Amino acid sequence: MKPAVNVSEKNLIKYSFEVEGGNFDTAGTVSTRIKSILKESGLPSDVVRKSAIVSYEAEINVVSYAKKGFINLSVTPTAVEIEVNDEGPGIPDIEQAMEQGYSTAGQHIREMGFGAGMGLYNIKSYSDRFDISSEVDKGTVLKMIILLPHS
Ligand SMILES: Nc1ncnc2c1ncn2[C@@H]1O[C@H](COP(=O)(O)OP(=O)(O)OP(=O)(O)O)[C@@H](O)[C@H]1O
Ligand SMILES: [Mg+2]
Repeated sequence: MKPAVNVSEKNLIKYSFEVEGGNFDTAGTVSTRIKSILKESGLPSDVVRKSAIVSYEAEINVVSYAKKGFINLSVTPTAVEIEVNDEGPGIPDIEQAMEQGYSTAGQHIREMGFGAGMGLYNIKSYSDRFDISSEVDKGTVLKMIILLPHS
């Protein structure tokens, strides 16, 4: 994993991490890092947990299907925002990809314990706002927002 760029301004948290496609040895390191950053910043544990789940699933998808990607993390006064964009094959039918159990994962990915077809479904379930867009042969962009409880 390349070092994160911390472009923090004032008391807002902003990071960008690069994810290497195909490298299962380092898969999960970015989401682990995100989890500890959010935990250390004192956010409520359920916000940290949801953010860790959605970033983990998105990171594994970049490793499984794309060439490379970036995970951008921001914490605003009202939410954790996680954007994941990749350079990869894209998703031809997003509605189908979102279905529970739908997976195109090959044997290699399944042997790693992935490929249940639950990742995107879980990302959507754990996010307060979720947006996905994709272009075939270009890549995919996911945007997840997890709201902070009102103070
Ligand atoms: N970043 C991506 N680029 C290209 N295709 C993707 C990407 N993310 C998901 N997909 C496609 O959408 C399908 C469903 O993804 P999802 O994460 O829900 O399940 P999975 O990765 O197959 O299995 P699981 O996440 O349960 O281990 C994938 O099998 C793949 O075909
Ligand atoms: Mg997945």
